[in-house]
Amino acid sequence: MVKQRNTINNLSPYIPGKPIDEVKRELGIERVIKLASNENPLGNSPAATKAVQEWANNMAIYPDGNGTSLKQALSDKLGVTPDQILLGAGTDQILEIIAQTYINPGDNAIMGDPSFPRYSSVVKVMDGQSIEVPLTEDYRMDLNAFLEKINDRTKIIWLCNPNNPTGTIISAQEQIDFIKRVPKDVLVVLDEAYYEYARGGDYPESLDLLDEFDNIIILLTFSKAYGMAGLRIGYAISNKDIIGYLNRVRGPFNTNTGAQVAAIAALEDQEFIEKSVQSNNQGKEYLYSAFEEMGLEYIPTHANFLMVKINISSSEVFKALLKKGVIIRSADIYGMDDWIRVTIGTCEENEIFVKALKEVINDLQS
Ligand SMILES: Cc1ncc(COP(=O)(O)O)c(C=O)c1O
Repeated sequence: MVKQRNTINNLSPYIPGKPIDEVKRELGIERVIKLASNENPLGNSPAATKAVQEWANNMAIYPDGNGTSLKQALSDKLGVTPDQILLGAGTDQILEIIAQTYINPGDNAIMGDPSFPRYSSVVKVMDGQSIEVPLTEDYRMDLNAFLEKINDRTKIIWLCNPNNPTGTIISAQEQIDFIKRVPKDVLVVLDEAYYEYARGGDYPESLDLLDEFDNIIILLTFSKAYGMAGLRIGYAISNKDIIGYLNRVRGPFNTNTGAQVAAIAALEDQEFIEKSVQSNNQGKEYLYSAFEEMGLEYIPTHANFLMVKINISSSEVFKALLKKGVIIRSADIYGMDDWIRVTIGTCEENEIFVKALKEVINDLQS
């Protein structure tokens, strides 16, 4: 047997939300709803579907590896130059590219605990160390503790804003105060995968920081509010030097043409985003009141998912909900054993989930 690299022994595979078809097959049930992967329950913009359909006769041709048209569209929308943008097969791939570009063996990266699990694994793959800093009592990233952890081997700080799985945010003021105190040779990655849901109020407009700081990267994705998780397309924005280095690591055709054309079409359909955010806000209010009525503690969210404390083993609740055709996330993987994370669905899905949750809690407590 060929021996794998030593560091691979310390990794576990990412556990994705359970696919709908698998649950249908395993349990022999017809109707299954998935509220586990923070997908958009309204689907995607019809304009994106049309763009993919038009492209579908042209699969023989390699993509434009540079993604020129999509970068131009993003550049027009965001007021940055195309050479400040890197495209990736989801922001997930960009996390890998960042770690490959900056982590030497023995370097470290700082992140919240719990936060998005991939921050840690992409660093460990590079023989780096992941420094995980517990959240504060109100489930927010403890930025002062982050600062205390920085040492001369620190290369990256992953700021997940809103934080997955808690849905809590760092405000614009907190973020700028923090970045000012981070040494200039440490990269601060602002992962804003849920930006469209979170924007407004205290939430930062991080693009405004690009002129002032040359050690930040902003990550955005078409997977969440744009509803295009299956196509795998996301992007990073930074200064052109950082983007230049990331581009050296990126594979030549890392984003496909279907994803690129769909993303261009989706950007033009901002009405779809507004509708999605509105639906999410309604769903959030409904779930808040349902949890209050059930006497369950929850963490108010700035994203399209929410953590609720069910006071019994989350893996038991996960299994029992699954039997009723509702897929959620058991939060034991985040070290929050009696919590579950649920993606905010359509009105109908939210109602089905609440009804099933009530039954499950009743059954498990009796
Ligand atoms: C905080 C955060 N960052 C990044 C990602 C990766 O998203 P994608 O690769 O689909 O863009 C996710 C997906 O769940 C996420 O929650």
